[in-house]
Amino acid sequence: MTVFKTKRELQKFALDTKRAGKTIGLVPTMGFLHEGHASLIDIAREKADVVIVSVFVNPTQFAPNEDFDSYPRDFERDAKLCEAHGVDVVIAPEPQEKYCSTASTFVTETMLSRPLCGASRPTFFRGVTTVVSKLFNLALPDFAVFGEKDAQQLHVIRRMVRDLDFPVEIIAGKLVRDADGLATSSRNRYLSADERERALAIHRALLTAKRTILADRGAIDAALEQAKQTITLAGGKVDYVSALYTATFDKIAPGTRRIIVAAAAFFGTTRLIDNEMFDF
Ligand code: PAJ
Repeated sequence: MTVFKTKRELQKFALDTKRAGKTIGLVPTMGFLHEGHASLIDIAREKADVVIVSVFVNPTQFAPNEDFDSYPRDFERDAKLCEAHGVDVVIAPEPQEKYCSTASTFVTETMLSRPLCGASRPTFFRGVTTVVSKLFNLALPDFAVFGEKDAQQLHVIRRMVRDLDFPVEIIAGKLVRDADGLATSSRNRYLSADERERALAIHRALLTAKRTILADRGAIDAALEQAKQTITLAGGKVDYVSALYTATFDKIAPGTRRIIVAAAAFFGTTRLIDNEMFDF
């Protein structure tokens, strides 16, 4: 496994790989890797000749009051996980290597990125779409794998790829949970044992909402209200609990088939997200 620190090394490697007729699979991450990331790497490993993982805590997707500085980092451990999962190249640039200090060009998706996380984190998706575009230009992937844990991010990236004609196939990986049901996340690191226990309410609330909605299509609003209450009663501060049509991330209309019930809530200072996607 090779570790690159600079963009140019990565781009040269990618160009040489393509010229040799090999396919590239990319898994973008912010590091502090866990089973969720590993499942995406395994998908890329199955499909592509060469697997590239990026490990980069992207400053442009954090607002000034968010956790960029405290975001967990452990490159040694990440490199071991990558090696164990058959990764060929890890790209781990410093922020000043990744972004020119006078950068003034950004990629913005203007529809799917508006509700949910986009409403509470207004600069988040612009940071994500910009850094993912840069990664696509540097790693030249045939496939890129994203997790359904960040379902809105996945949809925003698919839309960006469609709208800007990136020659990249976007593959979705299923949401991975810890044994107790909590969605696996680098940010779970911040939770105290007590907060972690209480945070299980998010998934419990989503499962109950899903059952209620499946039993009665007319009960969506009541189901969402009940889910908010479950999270609040567990001591969480609800950011949103919403049900949307997955294809557009818009309100559920008659005839809608696949929907997402998504939640974001703070336990202590830690913001967690989770979702259930299902046909109804
Ligand atoms: P990060 O939070 O590190 O996640 C990297 C990828 O892992 C994303 O596609 C995310 O959806 C996926 N992932 C995280 N937890 C998961 C889980 N429990 N199950 C399945 N997949 C999971 O998302 C980002 O980084 C950044 O926004 C990034 C796309 C790298 C741009 O900076």
